[in-house]
Amino acid sequence: MQWTIFPYGVFSMRSIVLPVMLFGFIASAAAADNDMPDKLTFPAKTGNVVFSHKMHVDGGIKCKTCHDRKGGKIKGLGREWAHKVCRGCHEAILLGPDKCNGCHGS
Ligand code: HEC
Ligand code: HEC
Ligand code: HEC
Repeated sequence: MQWTIFPYGVFSMRSIVLPVMLFGFIASAAAADNDMPDKLTFPAKTGNVVFSHKMHVDGGIKCKTCHDRKGGKIKGLGREWAHKVCRGCHEAILLGPDKCNGCHGS
């Protein structure tokens, strides 16, 4: 199970969100080092899903949680992947939307 270790990273999220906001300029400088798009929209019949890269990364989630390496296209991205990885994390740590309309059409 790949994400059993994630909660530890994510539970520190609340404690690091504020510093990250205060020192947002450092975060933006770091983000400028790669071409990670801030927001991505995944079209879906059930309502488009808007995903904020920046929010997740600023919250302390590592690129490798979702990417094989540093970033870029994800092989096998689709309904199954998203529900397993995205929704799976939200459910596991009780943060982030796990209801359909929490992601779809938001
Ligand atoms: C919570 C999951 C998640 C995390 C964490 C994450 N990403 Fe992503 N990222 C995605 C998804 C999903 C896509 C869309 C991939 C696709 O379209 O195949 C994406 C796309 C990208 C793309 C653009 C691919 C393209 O050509 O449109 C880049 C670059 C990228 N990520 C870099 C990063 C970097 C660098 C980090 C860490 C600082 C990171 N990502 C962290 C989920 C994540
Ligand atoms: C954590 C966010 C999240 C939650 C919660 C979620 N989904 Fe999704 N779902 C996604 C993402 C992201 C995709 C799109 C992946 C892609 O781009 O292929 C998706 C894709 C889908 C698709 C395929 C749509 C298409 O046009 O091919 C369906 C159907 C779907 N979800 C239904 C549901 C239902 C029903 C629920 C509730 C039981 C649900 N989803 C909950 C994120 C979520
Ligand atoms: C490793 C854990 C983890 C993964 C993987 C993850 N998320 Fe999240 N997500 C979170 C956390 C934590 C929050 C913030 C909860 C809060 O602060 O209320 C969140 C919040 C969200 C929100 C609500 C944003 C808002 O503005 O309130 C959406 C939508 C979302 N995630 C979609 C996704 C999608 C789509 C993916 C997959 C591409 C994904 N998440 C992957 C942990 C994760």
